[in-house]
Amino acid sequence: MDDRLALLGGTPAKTKPFPPWPHYDESEREALLGVLHSRKWWRTPGDQTLQFEREFAAYHQARYGIAVTNGTAALEVTMAALGIGLGDEVIVPDFTFVATASAVLFAGALPVLVDIEPHTYCLDPEQVEAAITERTRAIIAVHLGGHPADLDRLSEIAHRHGLYLIEDSSHAHGSEWKGHKVGALGDVGTFSFQQSKLMTAGEGGIIITNDDTIERLARSTHDCGRMPGEWFYAHFIYGSNYRLSEWQGAILRRQLARLPQQSQRRMDNARVLDRMLSQIEGITPQALDARCTHHGHYAYIFHYDRRAFAGLPIARFIEALQAEGVPHQASYPPLHDMALFQSGAYRKRLLPEMRVEHAFLRQTFPNTARAAWETVWLPQYVLLGDEQDMHEIAAAIGKIQRHAHELL
Ligand SMILES: Cc1ncc(COP(=O)(O)O)c(C=O)c1O
Repeated sequence: MDDRLALLGGTPAKTKPFPPWPHYDESEREALLGVLHSRKWWRTPGDQTLQFEREFAAYHQARYGIAVTNGTAALEVTMAALGIGLGDEVIVPDFTFVATASAVLFAGALPVLVDIEPHTYCLDPEQVEAAITERTRAIIAVHLGGHPADLDRLSEIAHRHGLYLIEDSSHAHGSEWKGHKVGALGDVGTFSFQQSKLMTAGEGGIIITNDDTIERLARSTHDCGRMPGEWFYAHFIYGSNYRLSEWQGAILRRQLARLPQQSQRRMDNARVLDRMLSQIEGITPQALDARCTHHGHYAYIFHYDRRAFAGLPIARFIEALQAEGVPHQASYPPLHDMALFQSGAYRKRLLPEMRVEHAFLRQTFPNTARAAWETVWLPQYVLLGDEQDMHEIAAAIGKIQRHAHELL
């Protein structure tokens, strides 16, 4: 066996490619042709997006679903539906995609950034509690990588302080907390169907909720302020056009039908990887809380301790891993370090009296820093492979460890 690193001319540890993503088959082709021939290409008279909303909401044990153009739009419409705006604050984890915070700014409210828990990488309830002020209106929990945030404690805090709990579930299609699907365990949940997500139409998003008022306001906001059953040119509240097309609705119905079986495979393969990678010194997989009864695995995330790899910097480790045939997806940098925040540009969205140097700009968030700069993310489709693929991932990491000194 050739044990040389692929980066140095050896044979890659991966002997066969991972399954391609996105997955599609004849059923997507038929669905698209069905929309084509129906000549109903937009949502308003169509039935594909409507059916998809119902099916997705039912799968996530929620009463309502409102499909929108993308996951960012889902958060923006949610802000409007909850009446969050100028002068308000919303607590957001420092470790997430920018949309979780930018949607709050879009509403004219301040995202108050706080640290995450060290092992699941999800919002830390203690930090949330410490950040609550009289301006706070909501908490956005992000189910990072598909692992649910601590919904027990966050719900309790939200309830005690009269705040909305929003679940940004863009990574968590099918994830479960104590046997219940995420998304509508808080007041409202949002999902993304962008290409890298666990099911996709290239772009797309959805809002789910059990609350009649939130549903009515979100649905109206996403359709120019219209109300169901009313005249097409009657507009009742401020809204915009966030409608999802019939093409996307039709594709997403097929993607949803495939999700349960794919999600189970990702979960099973991730546990195989957990067992193998835990044996490698310096590699610590994302923790799995016992209350997480299903982890949707938007990514397989593990902490990398360079000390166990002859001090090899993580960027070089990732380069070597990719050369071995294992794909990688970038981790998020801490939000508060981004130019949007450090330059002060975000303050232009706020009320003049709120345009101050916010404490989070100068804070250090140790758990976010560790997650941002010391974790490796394997994209979700890697987990759709077979057991041999999982062995080859572990073999690639073991090989890099044995030869790490050669890359210094
Ligand atoms: C946590 C999180 N929130 C929100 C979004 C926004 O979704 P979209 O890219 O569909 O706008 C994404 C994905 O990109 C995300 O990962």
